[in-house]
Amino acid sequence: MKDISDMLAAANAARVNAHAPYSNFLVGACLRGKSGRLYAGCNVENAAYPQGQCAEATAIGVMVAAGEKAIAEILVVHDGPILAGPCGGCRQRLREFAGLDAPVYLCWPDGLQRTLTLGELLPLSFGPEQLTR
Ligand code: THU
Repeated sequence: MKDISDMLAAANAARVNAHAPYSNFLVGACLRGKSGRLYAGCNVENAAYPQGQCAEATAIGVMVAAGEKAIAEILVVHDGPILAGPCGGCRQRLREFAGLDAPVYLCWPDGLQRTLTLGELLPLSFGPEQLTR
């Protein structure tokens, strides 16, 4: 089985820094770039609610700012007991930088709960290749 302990540790470390005073739902995300480097993020809420940002979006921004644009693996961590996947908007955000075969590890802070691919989470999707001509 694939070792994702480094990704979970990075996502958990980001998660505890989440700014989520409105939902109290802390989320961490970690992306492994195709380079092997890790990029972590947390959710950042705002008193003007729609301005809040998901953990996945933060991690994508960190990755792009560091100069990487290809995601190999995705991990998201939040508290149990109800397992959740990335929101619809974040599935599309991830689709910009990850292949449909990229694994998405859904975790609680103490470990992996479920693994799906991005393609399973976002079937018949629209991506960058639709716009290449
Ligand atoms: N949230 C994420 O960070 N990622 C998701 O994929 C789902 C939801 C955050 C947004 C908000 O700060 C909180 O969880 C409750 O919706």
